[in-house]
Amino acid sequence: MKNVLSIAIKQTKNNQTNAQASVVFVIDKNLKHHFINEKQLKEFDYKGEGVFFAQETKTLYIGIDRIDPDCLREAGCIAVRYFKNLNYENFKIGIYGDEKCMYALVLGIYLGTYQFDKYKSSKKENALKQVFIVNEGYDKNFKLPEEDVIIRAQIIAQAMSDVRDVVNMIPYEATPEFLTKWSKQIAKIHKLECNIFGKKELKKEKMNAFLAVNRASINDPYLIHLSYKPKKAKTKIVLVGKGLTYDCGGLSLKPADFMVTMKADKSGGCAVIGILQAVASLKLPVEVHGIVGATENMIGGDAYKPDDVLFSREGKSIEVRNTDAEGRLVLADCLSYAQDLNPDYLIDFATLTGACVVGLGEYTSGIMGYNKDLKDRFETLALQSGELVAQLPFNKHLEKLVESKIADICNVASSRYGGAITAGIFLGAFIRKEFREKWLHIDIAGPAFVEKDWDVNTYGASAAGVRAGIEFINDIALRG
Ligand code: BES
Ligand code: ZN
Ligand code: ZN
Repeated sequence: MKNVLSIAIKQTKNNQTNAQASVVFVIDKNLKHHFINEKQLKEFDYKGEGVFFAQETKTLYIGIDRIDPDCLREAGCIAVRYFKNLNYENFKIGIYGDEKCMYALVLGIYLGTYQFDKYKSSKKENALKQVFIVNEGYDKNFKLPEEDVIIRAQIIAQAMSDVRDVVNMIPYEATPEFLTKWSKQIAKIHKLECNIFGKKELKKEKMNAFLAVNRASINDPYLIHLSYKPKKAKTKIVLVGKGLTYDCGGLSLKPADFMVTMKADKSGGCAVIGILQAVASLKLPVEVHGIVGATENMIGGDAYKPDDVLFSREGKSIEVRNTDAEGRLVLADCLSYAQDLNPDYLIDFATLTGACVVGLGEYTSGIMGYNKDLKDRFETLALQSGELVAQLPFNKHLEKLVESKIADICNVASSRYGGAITAGIFLGAFIRKEFREKWLHIDIAGPAFVEKDWDVNTYGASAAGVRAGIEFINDIALRG
């Protein structure tokens, strides 16, 4: 979906902006403020939802906890959704907080426009066309945002909205081949290199773990390699994404209720493609590679089996005890390929485990790796970007749980506890010594797919990992 909303910055005196309505933020969720009289709230049956529209002044009051980027991002999103539903063409909004606050507000405004109606026969026309950011003298200390703040927010919102669109697509359409087409299209627009490995090349590369996962699928697997190589780049970042366009579990079949939403098992791969699109649009002076392992995990006579032993690209043999732990098999081979690029930072994004959702909840991604400083840095930047993340620590006791009696390693742990971490440890076994400190694993299984609206996310794909990834790369660009 292309963002159709335009955001205009206006320096006006005395309420000169001609807008159909305006938005005022009130720093109280109960909307107790001298702007609003309580009688009015009662008359309009205000139930404490934190939003109140005063009809006669056409003012939407939104209660927020405080003026900070997180609250403003969400409030911007709420405002847009409200006026979109009422078919308003425009509204105006004042200036709140510093540049970071205004950036978050603008991003929230763009994200509020997101809707996915590809499969609806009647599509709702989006009336909302313009938002004015105005300085009408609410506070003289506040500065209007610069144009580049708006452009940056727009680029990131666009990448997120594109990622959401693709993740939301049905598995019949969004096949591994479709992901290659999407990647080629982005490569063409943004002048990226795009290398696609098909079955033949994957065999030549000895990516047998990846290939085994694909075996029962009627759709061929692909490894997508996008590269963005600006001239003055000093740092090389390699991103790897799990691109399971469908995960039915394979022979270790998922129960019906757990299979639904597994079209979103390509979220990590799509996030990586979206990050490359944004990084190229923002022209960040860092070399960035995106590697996506795209395949389905299906069931059939030629399916790989629990009891099989696979010989991975890295040379390690893997005992398969559960074919539903397929993401780590695909990633093991992709991470092996990624290390050949000699990265300064290596980060993978994957909807890897249900255990991560159990442990951290549906809103938070797990950060794993061997380098505490790097985990801390990513955590800080992800939180700053508006994504929720938390670290999950490895330890030597959990490391023992992926040992195998007949192969070098087993694809599932011997205990059902700590599943997100043991999956991370499995991936870690495929990271060479010289890259251990450079690698991070981000499990986005919780937030990647949204069942009930929260924050700036609406039902369906959220584009988890995109904002965090861009914020991280941007920080590397700024500080090395
Ligand atoms: N794609 C799933 C993980 C997942 C679960 C993502 C829920 C999003 C929401 C993954 O391939 C999987 O099935 N993992 C298994 C691993 C187990 C067999 C060790 C799991 O988490 O149950
Ligand atoms: Zn699975
Ligand atoms: Zn999976």
